[in-house]
Amino acid sequence: MFDVNDIRKDFPILSREVNGKPLVYLDSGATAQKPECVIECVNRLHRELNANIHRGVHRLSEEMTELYEQARSRVCDFLGGVKREEIIFTAGATASINSVAYAWCGKFLRQGDNIIVSEMEHHSNIVPWQLAAERVGAEIRVLPFDDNGRLMVEQLDELLDDKTRIVAIAQASNTLGTRPDLKTIIEKSHAAGALVMVDGCQGVVHGGANLKELGCDFYAFSGHKLYGPTGIGVLYGRQELLEDMPPFMGGGDMVDRVSFAKTTYAPLPLKFEAGTANFVGAIGLGEAVKYLVAQDMAAIETHEQELLRYAEQQLSQIDGLKIYGTTADKCAIISFNVEGVHNYDMGMILDKLGVAVRTGQHCAEPVMAHYGVTGMCRASIAMYNTTSDIDALCKGVERAVRMLK
Ligand code: ALA
Repeated sequence: MFDVNDIRKDFPILSREVNGKPLVYLDSGATAQKPECVIECVNRLHRELNANIHRGVHRLSEEMTELYEQARSRVCDFLGGVKREEIIFTAGATASINSVAYAWCGKFLRQGDNIIVSEMEHHSNIVPWQLAAERVGAEIRVLPFDDNGRLMVEQLDELLDDKTRIVAIAQASNTLGTRPDLKTIIEKSHAAGALVMVDGCQGVVHGGANLKELGCDFYAFSGHKLYGPTGIGVLYGRQELLEDMPPFMGGGDMVDRVSFAKTTYAPLPLKFEAGTANFVGAIGLGEAVKYLVAQDMAAIETHEQELLRYAEQQLSQIDGLKIYGTTADKCAIISFNVEGVHNYDMGMILDKLGVAVRTGQHCAEPVMAHYGVTGMCRASIAMYNTTSDIDALCKGVERAVRMLK
């Protein structure tokens, strides 16, 4: 049985105060809080086990290597049973997407080709593709969303052609919460001969991802948004694509033989893990995944959806408040503005009341441009949030409106 009060006990930070008020943390879309088991795991690795992986025959190195590879197995299982060769540990989703945009596009993208991105992408799923396109003279095409925040998948047919190499789409929008119809996008893209890269940052934490069922070609997410440590992330790629893709970075651990005449690379996945990996981060992420799958993930999703609906209902009663992104199956992210109130002022007053939300452009300037605003307030909900968190948010917004209007 899912009990939010039991869950909250696992997250020590939730018992702290901010500005003399109990912390109401509604910024998990920026980074999620960490359960005690993850904090303790990272601590223990430094305190009792620290040694570099894949490099020593000594006991500590062997133990750390085993834990690192066990973390990889946990991620494989979590993503629907993908192969170990297909899971690369990176510094985060940004590094994952840039690796593909640099290495895969460096080999396969040609002048006159095109890449499709959606209008609701985070900058990290736009700019790497722009850089790749600029390098060779390829084109970026944009799949738009409507004013409700629904991605207009039906327009994909007009954008796809035999020169489309990659379609880059978020599993869930970090501003609008929209979960696009990925199945259809992937089917249409594959039918046109294009690959699909999914940015799973906001999606994976709200319900996970079964990549075998989904059938995407590349997938990325960051550990810190999934209740794990910062500085660690994952790149999934279909094995044959990763085999064909040249390494993004050279260095230790990614080679087979090195000589001045010729260097050969290590087999997957190490071919893409140059240098000392963030092994503590990876093992911490494995612990976060273990924690998450031990919960009832369907019950977590129901809980978050109930809070989202409650927040929508309460916030929409506030005069002049507009919610951006109102699709029926969105994830638990709610962005809004109140007429005549700047989003930074709103965020600062909420902070005085102990309520943490994100303000500004959310690294999604095209979304701001779509609505003609310079920024938004965003409350992003996680498994540990409660109805009283939502009440505190709504009371805070009402108070800010009274003060600022
Ligand atoms: N990408 C993170 C967010 O949307 C930081 O808040």
